[in-house]
Amino acid sequence: MHNAHFDLVIDRRNTNSIKWDCMNQYLGLDGTDLLPMWVSDFDFACPDAVKAALQRRVEHGVFGYSERRDDYFEAVQQWFTRRHRVTIKREWIQSIEGVIPGISLLLQMLTRPGDGVVIQGPCYGSFAKIIGLNERRLLDNPLRREGTRYEMDLRHLEQLFIREQPAVMILCNPHNPTGRAWEQAELHALAVLCQQHKVTLISDEIWADLQLNGHQHCSVLTLPDHLLSHLVVATSASKSFGLSSLRISNFILPDANLRQRFKQRLDAHGLDVFNALSMEAATAAYREGDVWLDDLLVYLSDNRRWFAAQLAHRIPALTLMDADATYLAWIDCSALGLSDDELKCHMIEHASIVPSMGISFGEAGSGFIRLNLGCPRQYLEQAISGLAHLMIEHAV
Ligand SMILES: Cc1ncc(COP(=O)(O)O)c(C=O)c1O
Repeated sequence: MHNAHFDLVIDRRNTNSIKWDCMNQYLGLDGTDLLPMWVSDFDFACPDAVKAALQRRVEHGVFGYSERRDDYFEAVQQWFTRRHRVTIKREWIQSIEGVIPGISLLLQMLTRPGDGVVIQGPCYGSFAKIIGLNERRLLDNPLRREGTRYEMDLRHLEQLFIREQPAVMILCNPHNPTGRAWEQAELHALAVLCQQHKVTLISDEIWADLQLNGHQHCSVLTLPDHLLSHLVVATSASKSFGLSSLRISNFILPDANLRQRFKQRLDAHGLDVFNALSMEAATAAYREGDVWLDDLLVYLSDNRRWFAAQLAHRIPALTLMDADATYLAWIDCSALGLSDDELKCHMIEHASIVPSMGISFGEAGSGFIRLNLGCPRQYLEQAISGLAHLMIEHAV
């Protein structure tokens, strides 16, 4: 389905965009003629209401120290009630500039160097990065592949808990890179296991708003009260509304003790002042962004359907994995019989696209690529042509 707002191609080059302007710095690539499909931010303009709120605040011209006020908290709380059927108490909300900085602080708060932290691979690379840089040990509970879908392996997880006695597990819901959104029964079983083994579960729900085809997000916050004391939820308007560089996220901590310790960590780092523009943007997005987001979800669902059909028809050697949510396409390229380095070269030289390489999501990602479908349809057409060209070259 066409939508003038999302179909519009906006030139992002020369805006300091990591995805468009920093391929050389991050990947050693001259990206001039390449289509970047790696970093997970989308290429759409944010809602007009957000732009207007930012413009009003910029026009004011004074940017002294700022704090969140009632309208900010109410916007977050009401968003969760409206969109995710979750009731959040105001005092549960702590804010920090990003989800990754917040998770990193939690790791420092809840574990010591050398302790294990559980993730489920293939897994968003920054989790492994902050676990490693904080000198914690990464413990993998690999997701089980069932055809074109992924499942959690709770039996393996229990063994891991018994053997390693970790204090923390990071859950990604919906899951980057696979796009799997976890269901109530799975989350319940996971939370029970965590409670039994005294593991604090950090549920990264940054992708929660981006559900495809009318799918409903299920937050761990919908679990019964007695399971909430071991849970922390990370969330942000950044993925949903394209505000990643504005840097504000919310950590929801139902347990008073965890909350007080987290607040102390924030204060210890001087993280008790908030960016005036970020707050305006997030408040406007949560208050006025419903219709815009609903339209976006239609566009993203349609993008994915179109891309899947084209891939199946024109490039059947590549297998797209099922996704309930996100704009990420997790694609199994192993039938090409290439090493990860060769796959990368082929994508760049023959398909002229820059993917995220699956191997950067851990061993389970070997042979995969992740493509960002959060872009105008025109870019997807370019990507499909590139992949079809790669197949011709590969067959030669
Ligand atoms: C699962 C997940 N968590 C966190 C982030 C980054 O969050 P932030 O920019 O708020 O640190 C991303 C970005 O792609 C992500 O996919």
